[in-house]
Amino acid sequence: MQALRRDSSRQIIMQVIDIHNHFFLSSWPDLAARYGTPNWPWIKHTAPGQADIMVGERFFRHIYSACWDPEVRLRDMDRDGIDMQVISATPVLFAYDRPVQHASDCAQLFNDAALELCSRGKGRLKSLCQVPLQDTGAACKELSRCMRAGHLGVQIGNHVGSKNLDDTGVLTFLHHCADEGAAVLVHPWEMFGQDRMPKYMMPWTVGMPAETQLSVVALILSGALDRLPSTLRICFAHGGGSFAFLLGRLENAWHHHPVARGDCQYPPSHYLSRIYADSAVFDQRALQFLVGTFGADRVMLGSDYPFPLGEEHVGSLIRQSNFPQPTKAKLLSENAARFLGLGGEAHEVGDKPSGATADSSPLAPEPGQLTYSSYLKVPELLELQQPQSSPQHHDEMLFIIVHQTYELWFKELLHDLDAAVENLRRAGAAPQSRDEVYEAARLLRRCTEITRVLVEQFTILETMLPTHFLAFRSLLEPASGFQSEQFREIEFLCGLKDEKMLRYHRPTPEAYASLKRRLEEPSLRDVFFGALQAMGRLQPAGKDATERERFQARARAVHALYQDEHHHRDWIDVCERLTEFDELVVSWRLRHIQLVERIIGIRPGTGGSAGASYLKLTLDKKFFPELWEARTLLTE
Ligand code: HEM
Repeated sequence: MQALRRDSSRQIIMQVIDIHNHFFLSSWPDLAARYGTPNWPWIKHTAPGQADIMVGERFFRHIYSACWDPEVRLRDMDRDGIDMQVISATPVLFAYDRPVQHASDCAQLFNDAALELCSRGKGRLKSLCQVPLQDTGAACKELSRCMRAGHLGVQIGNHVGSKNLDDTGVLTFLHHCADEGAAVLVHPWEMFGQDRMPKYMMPWTVGMPAETQLSVVALILSGALDRLPSTLRICFAHGGGSFAFLLGRLENAWHHHPVARGDCQYPPSHYLSRIYADSAVFDQRALQFLVGTFGADRVMLGSDYPFPLGEEHVGSLIRQSNFPQPTKAKLLSENAARFLGLGGEAHEVGDKPSGATADSSPLAPEPGQLTYSSYLKVPELLELQQPQSSPQHHDEMLFIIVHQTYELWFKELLHDLDAAVENLRRAGAAPQSRDEVYEAARLLRRCTEITRVLVEQFTILETMLPTHFLAFRSLLEPASGFQSEQFREIEFLCGLKDEKMLRYHRPTPEAYASLKRRLEEPSLRDVFFGALQAMGRLQPAGKDATERERFQARARAVHALYQDEHHHRDWIDVCERLTEFDELVVSWRLRHIQLVERIIGIRPGTGGSAGASYLKLTLDKKFFPELWEARTLLTE
C-alpha cells in the first residue's frame, strides 16, 4: 500500500495523510470584472504573509501564507509529522448559486491552480477538485477532466441551494465519482439559520455540524446508499458533524415511526460502513465516540489546516489518543490511503477480492466475510484500555490489562460454574445416569485450571514498582476490587453469600440486580447437597435441626461417599474438584494479599477497607466447608 514508504535506512514506515485542509491563492483574476457580477471572493493582502479573504466588500476570514505558499506548508507538515496533505479549495469559491459557465470557469481556474501548487510540494501535496454542482453534466465533465489531470477526487458542498445530497442530479454526479474512482469529501457550507447566528462564529460551531448531519441523514434515509455503488468513497468533514452523536435518535425514530423511516432498506446505522468521517472533532472523548460509532476503518485524519478553526498541531488528537498503535495507523494513514484510492492493494467494500495468487498463497477474505478480527472483535477489544493518567503513565496500561484479563476469566468461570450447577441438578434428578456427574467434574476441572492461571498472573503485576503505582493510584479512587461484580457473583454462586457486600454495587443497578438474583438462587453448594439428598446419600434435615446439625449431616454424607469409593468414584471426583477449586481460590486470596502488601504496604484500600489486614480476614472463607470437615471425620 502506498500509505507505507521506506525511510533512508530502507525501513518501511507509515505515511501520515491529512485528507482535509485548504488552500487559497495569493492572487487570481478579478472575478467580478471577469463575469460582470458582484460579490465574488478576492484576497486583500494586509501584511507580509498575511491576508484577508473578502467576499465583495464583506470581510470573510484572516488567512496566512500557508494557504498559498508550499514552502510554508511543507515546514508546518514537517513540524507536525505529516507526510502528505490532500488540499481542497475553500467552500466560499464553490459558486453553486452562479450561472453554470461562471462556476465552471471558476472551478477550472482553481483546480488548475491547485495542481500547480501541488507540483511545488515535493510530491507531498495532492488535491481534490471542485465542480459546478448546480449542473450535473458540467460537474461530471469537470470531474473527469480533473481526474485525468491528477486530482484524487472532489470536494463538494453539503447542499446545492435548497437541494440536499439526495437530489437526483447530485446522485448522478456521485455515481459518476464512483465510476471515475474519485474520492468525495463533503464539506458544509452556506449554513442555514444564519439570521439567528449573527455572532460568535456560531455558523461554524453550530451551523456546520448540523448542516453535515442533515446531509448524511438525507443520503441515508433517501435510500441513496442502497442505489449508489458500494465502490463510492465518500467522507463527511468535521467528524460528520453532529451525525454520530445523534445516530441513536435517528435509529430510534427509524424503528418506531414509519414516517421517519424514509426509503432506506436498513436502519441508519447499517450505512456506517459506506461512509467515512474525518477526525476534526478536537476532543479525545469525541474522537473515541466517533471511532466507536463509525469503526476504526472509517475515520481518518482531517485537520482543516490552516484555517483558524483547524487543528493547531495536525494529527496530535489522534497521536495523543489512547487507541492502540494499529488503530492509530489506520486513522493516520491506512484509511486515507484506501479512501483516496492510493496503492494497488487498497480496495473498497464491494470491490472484487484479489483472490489466490499463482504461488498458492492463501485466499484473502472477501469483504464482509468473517475474519479473525471481526469474529473476536479485536479492534473493539483493543480500544477498551482507557488510562486515567495524562500524560499516560506507562504502567497504567498493564494495570488495566491485568484487571481486564481477570474479569474475562471470571466471566468464563461463571459460565462453567453455571453449567456445572446445571449438570449436578440433572444428576440429582436422574441418579442412575452417570453422564452428568462426569460432565460436572470435567467442567470443575476447567475451573480449577483457570484459577491456577489466575493465581499465577499476579506475578506480572508485581513487575510494577510501588512508586509507579502510587504515581497514578489516586486517580483511581474510589474504584476498588470490592466492586468486581463477577468476583462477588462467583462467591455467591459457589455458596459464600454475604448480603452486606451488595452495598458496593448500589451505584450500578444492573450489577446489583444480578447479584441479588445470585443471592436468592440455589448455590453450587446447595445443588451438590440437593443431588446427594436425591440419591439417598443425605437424609433431609428435620425442620427443627440447627445449622450445626445440618452441617454435620452434610459432612457425614461426604464422608460416606469417600468410604464407599468403589460405588462413588464419580461423585468423589466431583468432591475433589470442588475441594481443589476452594483451595485455589484461597491461594488467589493469599497471592492477592501478598501483591497488595508488596505494592501498597499496609495502606487502606481505595474501597475504604483497612487494606491487607482486612483481606487477611477473608483467608478463612471456604465455599464448601463440609468437604473439608469430611476430611477430619475420616479415620485411618
Ligand atoms: C496494585 C494492585 C492491587 C492492589 C493495591 C489491590 C488492593 C486491594 C485492596 C486494598 C482491596 C480491599 C478493598 C479496598 O479497600 O479497596 C482489594 C480488594 C479486591 N481486589 Fe485488589 N488490588 C490489586 C490488584 C487486584 C487485581 C489484579 C485483581 C484482579 C481481579 C484484584 C481484585 C480484587 C478483588 C476481587 C477484591 C475484593 C476481595 C474481597 O472482597 O474479598 N485486585 N484490592
